[in-house]
Parts: sequence; structure tokens; C-alpha cells
Amino acid sequence: MDTQIAVQTKNLSKEFDGKAVLNRLEIKVAQGEIYGILGVNGAGKTTLLKLIAGLLEPTEGGAYVFGENSWKQRNKVLQNIGSLIEVPYFYEHLSASQNLSIHLEYMGVSADIDKALSHVGLPDVGNKPVSKFSLGMRQRLGIARSIIHRPKVLLLDEPINGLDPVAIREMRELFISLKNEGMTILLSSHILSEVEQTVERVVVIANGTLIEVANMEELKNTHQNNLENYLIGKMRGGKYND
Ligand SMILES: Nc1ncnc2c1ncn2[C@@H]1O[C@H](COP(=O)(O)OP(=O)(O)OP(=O)(O)O)[C@@H](O)[C@H]1O
Ligand SMILES: [Mg+2]
Repeated sequence: MDTQIAVQTKNLSKEFDGKAVLNRLEIKVAQGEIYGILGVNGAGKTTLLKLIAGLLEPTEGGAYVFGENSWKQRNKVLQNIGSLIEVPYFYEHLSASQNLSIHLEYMGVSADIDKALSHVGLPDVGNKPVSKFSLGMRQRLGIARSIIHRPKVLLLDEPINGLDPVAIREMRELFISLKNEGMTILLSSHILSEVEQTVERVVVIANGTLIEVANMEELKNTHQNNLENYLIGKMRGGKYND
């Protein structure tokens, strides 16, 4: 096997105000994989994604995207990633199309904005100001913005937040088609059913510590009737009572 590593963290640690939030985290994400980060509220999922995106400086260790250090080489890393982390921010008074256009200008690339909007199920609202968007529409627009420059790596923090079941299915199909085009996707979630259905590999973190990395198909086979209990046990920090 000679799969290229798209994202890697080495001894990655982060403290806020002297309190450890991530402890020596080591993960490896292969190119073209959909990788899930599972953890309860406060486990460290967003912090991990921010460190990978180069939005935060690690206290120790590092995150790497195609071998480049996310913090020290963040201008280069930025070119290779698309991200939707926490609530997406937009220029509220501007339209969806204008927001995407500004992003493309910033990234120094061109793309078909109308196509990107229909890709995420927003075909007819390109000219509407974002201030008039619903939560789900904002989330869809955030996803459009994160993929429009065709990044190699996509970082999605709770991507199905605020989406209805139809949109959730559409997004899952979109993620799988992006993966089939070779994109590597890291997504965080605490929604077990979504992670089970979407990701190929999962890392469970609890209190900033890696509890388990597993292949989702293997997990499903091994824990056919009690996968939810098993994963909840892991999310609690590894204590599992069958
Ligand atoms: N800027 C910050 N300053 C201080 N503490 C922070 C900061 N950002 C996060 N934390 C703390 O780090 C821990 C992990 O937060 P993080 O947002 O990464 O968790 P999460 O897994 O994304 O949670 P959620 O599921 O609620 O989004 C929490 O205890 C949080 O309070
Ligand atoms: Mg979070």
C-alpha cells in the first residue's frame, strides 16, 4: 500500500490558559478518505480542525497537510484546504454569489459560482442577501464556499448542523461524490448515525485524548447490535459496559 497521507498530526497538543485541551494527538488521514472525528461537547473536535486549518498555534507538536506544517506554512496549507468550522461568517448585506466571488478573489482562483450554488441545493437564491438566509441555507452556502476552489482537503465541523433530512442526504451524497473525485474529507460530529453512514474511518476523542481509531465497516461488523453503545462508551472516555 502506497497511499499518500493527506493530513497528519504529530504529538499535537493545545492548551488554553494552561489547561490541556488536546493531548499529544496522533492521527493519519489517507488521501481520498472520509474521516470522522467523534466526541462529546468539549472533547476538542473544533480545536483539532482549527489546528489542522492553521487557525490556531499548537502548544506542542504539529499538524501537517500534505507534509506542510499547518501553522508555520499556513499560506501554503490554505491553498490546499477548504473549511467550514463552527458557524460560517458571511458579508450579510451581500448576496450569496457576491460572498462566493469575494472568496474566489481571496483564494486567487476562478470557478463557476452558479454551478457551485446548485451543487449544494441553492440554485435560485444567488442574488438574495445572506441576511435573509435560513440556518440551513447558510450551512449550504458555507459548504459551497468551502469547496468552490476545489481544495484537496476539506475540513467540516458539524456539517449537517441545521440541515433538514433531505439536505442531510444530499450533503452525504455530495461528500461521497467529492471523495470519488479524490478529495480528502475530515468531518467532526457528535451525531452517531451520521458518522456511521458517511465516514470510512473514525477517530474518537474524549477530553482531548485519542481513545480509538477504527475502520467503520469493521466496527459495524464487530458491533452489529450495539455499535451505538460501544461508540458512546468510547466517547465517554473508553469505559464500556456491554
Ligand atoms: N479560545 C478558547 N479559549 C479557552 N478555552 C477554549 C477555547 N476554545 C476551546 N476551548 C475549550 O477547549 C475545549 C474543547 O473545545 P472544542 O470547541 O474543541 O470542543 P468540541 O469537541 O468542538 O465541542 P462541541 O461539540 O461543543 O463543538 C473546551 O473545554 C473548550 O471550553
Ligand atoms: Mg465544536
